[in-house]
Amino acid sequence: DKAFGRDNSFLEFNPGKCLLPPSHTLFAERILSFDVREDDIWLISFPRTGSTWCQEMIWLLGNDLDFKSAQTLPQQIRAPLLELSSLMFQHKDVLQKLFPFNDTVEFVDKMKSPRFIKSHLPLDLLPTQLDKVKPKIICTMRNPKDMIISFYHYCRIFHDLSIPLEDFCDLFLDDSTPMGSVWSHYLGFWNKRHDENILVLKYEDMKKDSAGTIRQIAEHLGKNVTEKEIGDIKEFLSFSNMRENKACNLEVFIDTWKGKNYYKRSGDHFIRKGIVGDWKNVMSEEMAEKFDKWIEENTRGTGLNFEEV
Ligand code: A3P
Repeated sequence: DKAFGRDNSFLEFNPGKCLLPPSHTLFAERILSFDVREDDIWLISFPRTGSTWCQEMIWLLGNDLDFKSAQTLPQQIRAPLLELSSLMFQHKDVLQKLFPFNDTVEFVDKMKSPRFIKSHLPLDLLPTQLDKVKPKIICTMRNPKDMIISFYHYCRIFHDLSIPLEDFCDLFLDDSTPMGSVWSHYLGFWNKRHDENILVLKYEDMKKDSAGTIRQIAEHLGKNVTEKEIGDIKEFLSFSNMRENKACNLEVFIDTWKGKNYYKRSGDHFIRKGIVGDWKNVMSEEMAEKFDKWIEENTRGTGLNFEEV
C-alpha cells in the first residue's frame, strides 16, 4: 500500500485485470461506446514499450513528414492519449494549463479525420467498435524485463513510487502495478495479430532496424515513402533527438506538474535510456530467473516470444 506515494487509489478500478484510478469509472462507459472512424489510426500499447517513439513514426508518415509541427505541437495534441483525462483526473489543472482540452475523450471525439489516437488500455476497456469498424491499429510490445525497469522509473515520476526496484518487480509479477496485467494487454492484441488492420511491433525490432519498422508502418498505412524519407524520419527520431524534443519528451508536462526544473533535476527522464538489455545492469540474477519463468509460463503456446537480450 505504501508503494505509490500519492496514489494508492490508482489500483482500485478493475482489480485483477487493468488497474486504473477510480476516476476511470467516469470515462469507462464513454470510452467503450466511443465512435470509431474507419480512417482513424490507433496506437495501442502497454506503457514503456516504445509507444511515444512509434507514435512519432506513425504521425510523421501520416502527415507528410511535417517535422516542424512534430517539434512545436505536443504529441498529446497531435495524437492524444484517449484516457489521459481519466489518468490525470486528480490533476486536471496540469492538463488545463498545457492543452486545449478538459476532457480527452470529448477532444478526440471532435478531432478532424484522420485522427491519430493513442491508448494504453487493454482490448476489453477500449471502444467495442474497434472490432467492427476495423481502423488501422498498431501495437507495441517489449520484453517485460526491460519494460519493467523503464516502468519503475516512470512510476517514480508519475506515481511517487518510493520502493526499491526488487519490490516493484514483485508487485509487477503479481499484476499489482498501475495498468495491471501486462499479459492480458499483450495477448489481447497478439491473438489478433493476423487481422489485416492490426500490426504488432516489438521494441527490440524497432531498435534493431528502425528503418525497417518505419517501412512496415508505411506499408500498413498504405503510404508511399522513399528510402530518403525513411532515413530522414529515422534520423529525426533518433534517441538523442527525441530526448531533446519538448513536443514529446514530456519535460514541460512534468515541470508544470512537479515544479520547474524537476525533469532535469530528478534524472528520471521520460525518454530515458533507449537501450535493449538494460535489465542486466540493475536486475538481480534471482529476479531475472523469476521473470524468465513467468514469461515462459505466460507465453507458452501463444507464439509470442521476446528475443533474449
Ligand atoms: P527506457 O526507459 O528503457 O529508456 P513509452 O513511450 O511507450 O512509454 O516507452 C518509453 C521507452 O521508449 C523508454 O525506454 C524510452 O527511453 C524509449 N524511447 C523513447 N524514444 C526513443 C527513441 N527515439 N529511441 C529508442 N528508445 C526510445
